[in-house]
Amino acid sequence: MLANAILKDMEKQVNPYVPGAGLRPAALVGRDPVIGDLRTIIDRTTIGLMDRSMILKGLRGVGKTVLLNEMWRIAREDGWITARVEGAASAEDRLVLDQVRAELIANLPETKSKGPLQKMRKLMTSIESVSLSVSPSHTLSAGMSFSQTGDEPKGPIDPAEFMGIALSVARAVKDDSSTTAHGVMLFIDEMQLLAKQELSAITYACHKAGQDEIPFYVIGAGLPDLPTRLAEARSYAERLFTYRDIDRLDDAEARDALIIPAYKQAVTWSEGALALVVNEARGYPYFLQQYGKEAWAVASSAKRVNVISEADAKDGITRGRAELEAGFYASRWHRATAAERKYMAAMALAGSEFSTTDAVASALKRTAQSLGPTRAKLIERGFIYSSYRGQIAFTVPGMGGFIMQTPEADDLKREISGDAVARQIPDEEGVATVDEHMYYTT
Ligand SMILES: Nc1ncnc2c1ncn2[C@@H]1O[C@H](COP(=O)(O)OP(=O)(O)OP(=O)(O)O)[C@@H](O)[C@H]1O
Ligand SMILES: [Mg+2]
Repeated sequence: MLANAILKDMEKQVNPYVPGAGLRPAALVGRDPVIGDLRTIIDRTTIGLMDRSMILKGLRGVGKTVLLNEMWRIAREDGWITARVEGAASAEDRLVLDQVRAELIANLPETKSKGPLQKMRKLMTSIESVSLSVSPSHTLSAGMSFSQTGDEPKGPIDPAEFMGIALSVARAVKDDSSTTAHGVMLFIDEMQLLAKQELSAITYACHKAGQDEIPFYVIGAGLPDLPTRLAEARSYAERLFTYRDIDRLDDAEARDALIIPAYKQAVTWSEGALALVVNEARGYPYFLQQYGKEAWAVASSAKRVNVISEADAKDGITRGRAELEAGFYASRWHRATAAERKYMAAMALAGSEFSTTDAVASALKRTAQSLGPTRAKLIERGFIYSSYRGQIAFTVPGMGGFIMQTPEADDLKREISGDAVARQIPDEEGVATVDEHMYYTT
């Protein structure tokens, strides 16, 4: 297959790079340790030992979703009953438990008609729907209705009760000698979007599973503030989960992410081209895919045979930057309201990875408290996150740099320096002093 590919020029080959959301890369590099953690859970279960559930946390575009999907695939192949669901920002879409229920039912194995698992199937299928609604005061209520009367509980029940049922399914798997399934694993993406009651119910279920030795695990993925949200929901959450940072790839891994997909089609990267793209992408998987794709496209349109040159990489980077600005950054920026943009511009002007809410407030000449709703909205929409009280950061790598080029940042800079000029006061020697950075240093 490689020999055939050698004869082709790149124009006829398929561009193997896939910048996108949750698109499996041709080479999933650098994540073996985390995949190994999942295999450890699986192995321990096989010999009757318990382990912790897992949380994958990281910025936008680092590869949480593709890793979660890979782990889901491994668990299914190993014979676990799984559900894979995703948190959503809008209240109407908050039907995570309903999705869990539907997936668990779909994935329950056929077993003996009177075994424990069949009983659970009956119970699960008798639930017609799980409905969650969020009131204007942001309290969540959950309802569940059942299609049958008889022994089954009648709704409404709360998220904790629902998780109790999910846990019972895992217990039934353990007790049912007629099934080869190992247990239940829930895979939850964008988990930071779940309501506090849901996080609390899920955490409690994991706790109970550990205590009662039930093969039930949750593998969650979310933004870096997910551990804080879990701890707010249940104080012992920090001891209940194994937390893994899904971070940038190191240089060797970044090179592999570029080289391996090309190698499969007998295309090589020149050393200079690799160095340029690795440097530009700073280890972020999404950027590697974007620049890789563009460099390949340039080489391909030049009808180059089997090699991506330094010149291709240079042009590819220019095209990649334009793509990132128009897509990754601008799509978020334009979805934000004017007030939200101003808030983010103040964060960008601070210039460091983390800003304090006080510094942003003073740049905007407001109180941190009065900006609370804007900040909350930005967090809810996943543009920024807060792992520590009073500290905020962008969820998107490089967002600050992008914002610095926008008119909003220019306006704010002018406002701040105009204000600084207005505040010029003669010092003791009668010389005016201006601290232009007084509002945007943290
Ligand atoms: N380990 C990896 N090696 C190479 N490319 C990767 C890797 N992980 C992810 N990618 C690529 O990076 C991009 C982003 O991946 P993914 O959507 O999983 O990120 P994410 O962390 O879930 O982002 P978000 O927070 O926006 O949902 C995709 O194009 C994917 O193909
Ligand atoms: Mg994702």
